[in-house]
Amino acid sequence: MVSDNRPGAASLPSVPYDIPTSARAYGWMLGGKDNYEVDRDFLLSTLPSFPECVDIARQNREFLFRVVRHLTREEGIRQFIDMGCGLPTDDNVHQVAQRFASDARVVYVDIDPIVLAHGRALLADDSSTTVITGDMRDQEAVLAHPDVVRLIDFGQPVAVLFLSVGHHLTDADGPARILRTVIDRAAPGSFLGFSQVVADDPGRGAAMTAHISAGGVPWQTRTPAEVDALLTGLDPLAPGLVNLVDWRPDADQPPLAPVAPDLLPYLGATRSNKGIYEYGGVLRTPRRNG
Ligand SMILES: C[S@@+](CC[C@H](N)C(=O)[O-])C[C@H]1O[C@@H](n2cnc3c(N)ncnc32)[C@H](O)[C@@H]1O
Repeated sequence: MVSDNRPGAASLPSVPYDIPTSARAYGWMLGGKDNYEVDRDFLLSTLPSFPECVDIARQNREFLFRVVRHLTREEGIRQFIDMGCGLPTDDNVHQVAQRFASDARVVYVDIDPIVLAHGRALLADDSSTTVITGDMRDQEAVLAHPDVVRLIDFGQPVAVLFLSVGHHLTDADGPARILRTVIDRAAPGSFLGFSQVVADDPGRGAAMTAHISAGGVPWQTRTPAEVDALLTGLDPLAPGLVNLVDWRPDADQPPLAPVAPDLLPYLGATRSNKGIYEYGGVLRTPRRNG
């Protein structure tokens, strides 16, 4: 189901205030202010068992900057579809891309209508970027959205980003097919950016999955090998699929907003807890011979 965000279009799904949402909880870890008590309480109930979450959310957002910079500057990508884009923050995909290529076009997709509400304000004067409310599990509906049809030329390479959203795709959703839909349809030279939360210990991963799913957020922590299996048949750029802190690290990239005081005790937890981390990379379809 994709809702139409054009002026006069049918009303949007309402924002859930009674259950935590990933967009708002993640935004809080990035230093954002658009969250509610239900989101903060849920996160604070999660962190004693999984203290790595604050660090890995922030490491993912730093990875996003490096991925978009690489794709625009080194690979010549000019169009992005950002699946599960999250609430606007600093250095959103269109801002990073347009810093290196002023003609870059971006479609943001998120299931949480609060993202659309905030995205509209940010993008009011930008005709090359749009945000739609949609479910990435229904790729056909996303690709049929009038804004996708208007902004994305499938005759040209496309980068589709599934950043820190792989864990929102459970095995029952058929994630391998979802991840391939855009790049299998787009011109050669297209890319997939992917990341998700993984656990080296499947037991700890299962405990995390149970806790977050019970909170009402669809979730599946995988092992790195399970992620590799989802992406079989695609060619990862160097250094491959890795802990995101090892994906082309750059000590000089722009800093994120400071962390909220309640989350400060957890900042730096990945220095001693390395069993749960954000894993991913950038992949392309194999080059065709002849
Ligand atoms: C952890 S945030 C990641 C945000 C952003 N991609 C980033 O890397 O900074 C996950 C986002 O995915 C969105 N999401 C979860 N399930 C989704 C679905 N089925 N379709 C579209 N968006 C979804 C959530 O609303 C949330 O904004």
